[in-house]
Amino acid sequence: MNLADMALRTLTSAPSLKGKRVILRTSLNEPVDDQGAVSDLFRLRRGLPTLEYLVREGAKVIVVGYFGRSGESLLPVAEALEKIASPIPIRFTSTPPAKAGVEVAALRSGQCLVLENTRRDPREEKNDEGFSRELAELGDFFVDDAFAEAHRAYASNVGITKFLPSFAGLLLAKEVAELSHALHPPSPSLCIIGGAKFETKGPLIEKFLKNYDQVFVGGAIANDLFKAQGLEVGKSLVSAEPYDFGNILSHPKLLLPKDVVVEGAGPIAVKAPAAVTGSEGIYDVGPQTITDLSSILSKMKFVLWNGPLGNYEHGFIAQTQSLASAIARSGAYSVVGGGDTIAAIATLHLEDRFSFLSTGGGAMLEFLDRGTLPGIEVLIDS
Ligand code: 3PG
Repeated sequence: MNLADMALRTLTSAPSLKGKRVILRTSLNEPVDDQGAVSDLFRLRRGLPTLEYLVREGAKVIVVGYFGRSGESLLPVAEALEKIASPIPIRFTSTPPAKAGVEVAALRSGQCLVLENTRRDPREEKNDEGFSRELAELGDFFVDDAFAEAHRAYASNVGITKFLPSFAGLLLAKEVAELSHALHPPSPSLCIIGGAKFETKGPLIEKFLKNYDQVFVGGAIANDLFKAQGLEVGKSLVSAEPYDFGNILSHPKLLLPKDVVVEGAGPIAVKAPAAVTGSEGIYDVGPQTITDLSSILSKMKFVLWNGPLGNYEHGFIAQTQSLASAIARSGAYSVVGGGDTIAAIATLHLEDRFSFLSTGGGAMLEFLDRGTLPGIEVLIDS
């Protein structure tokens, strides 16, 4: 049985929320630019329907979430939320939850108060019961819509559910349904997986080699496979962690780049992986690889994609963008996730041409690997 068939307690099954204080855990963890300004609104936008639903139902909404890893103030994110959620009245408070009762009591139906970064309290990451209780005392109901952080078992998403009637928000429920579908795709299906850190993606690749008709591996993790095949990978980025490639390397469903973009002492060049020299590094897949993938994609009913094909930090984004265009054209049902992958799609304004864009980075990969997450398990009726 997969999670889509299980009884996820969803927001639409909650009792009347009119006049009730609802704690909404939403993903506020957006990237920021050099000046600390929020540089992307993807997750905030995807969380808006749940906020709007709560406001329509007449709830008093208390938004909680975390941002960054060093306790940065959530104020810029709250301001960004206020802009995109207008005309919903949104206020921000830096008062810690234990003392925010007065401000919460002043809320009227349809108003929204954003609390400061939950990671400011060291008890958040420890899923501390005391902190969960302090948060829970501010509300009558808890709604979790933060799929992107559902792989974390924190006080504000897991612990709090012990103390309040708790429901999955509209986005969280949609993520679970779409990604559960991706675990059992209709045939013919293609999985494309890129990015770095083979050790985190290897188990998924092994799983997808069973569930999908074809699995294409690109990005830095393809370098690990080239190296395991005995090819020279020169200065290419490879994983430092050991991995047993035995179940992957000779698998008949595995597809690897036919050509790669390399940089070395000379100009950037395109060559076969077997021709890479010790003084070169692989930075992207080559154009022939994209042509081949486009032709495979045109025959697919379902495609799952996570992770860029080139080295984003060094500006090698062209082939990832070409792949985004090819998937958009293909007509296949497409489920996509990961920060750089979504960014490539957004740059090309192709968002509407994909069937589902996941807000999850690590959460998406972990859900696909395990079929569940700590933040989801606490919202399932057993
Ligand atoms: C993400 O950006 O992948 C999630 O929001 C989780 O962030 P974290 O790794 O800082 O917990």
